[in-house]
Amino acid sequence: MSGALPLCPLAVSSPCLQFEALHPEGICPGWSIVVKGETSSRSSMFEINLLCEPGDQIALHFNPRLSSSRIVCNSFLNSHWGQEEVNSTFPFKAKEPFQVEIYSDQDYFHVFINENKVLQYQHRQKNLSSITKLQILDDIDISSVEITKRASSLEHNIYVTP
Ligand code: GAL
Repeated sequence: MSGALPLCPLAVSSPCLQFEALHPEGICPGWSIVVKGETSSRSSMFEINLLCEPGDQIALHFNPRLSSSRIVCNSFLNSHWGQEEVNSTFPFKAKEPFQVEIYSDQDYFHVFINENKVLQYQHRQKNLSSITKLQILDDIDISSVEITKRASSLEHNIYVTP
């Protein structure tokens, strides 16, 4: 997995789509996604989605909603939303910079906000190698996205966008 950059940022085609990148070999497990940014207002919501094949289903939908101070996580598989996992630990504030890290191991996505663990989400899409796309949508000003493969004693960055 070292060497060439395996992620391809895609052209952004929809106004609410802020960032999209493809990793054909699968983003999970062992990968960590770090998004730094800022929300635009008190009514903001944004989404970080990890999409899986076939047909751009959603393995992880991470959706902080500032209007209700809740983080909603879910999956969209087999053409429907599953049961929401709602978290009321809510470290986001309007117009304040934040960092979200989503790290995947074999069993869970682990989500850290500003380096504090906030939630974990058990994989519903069990075929982790089918999770090949990252999308970030809606009210977020992104300052950077990093996708890093974590190894036990070794970390190397493979993709950074300013
Ligand atoms: C719906 C919303 C979707 C998604 C879903 C998660 O109400 O329209 O965008 O957030 O909840 O369960």
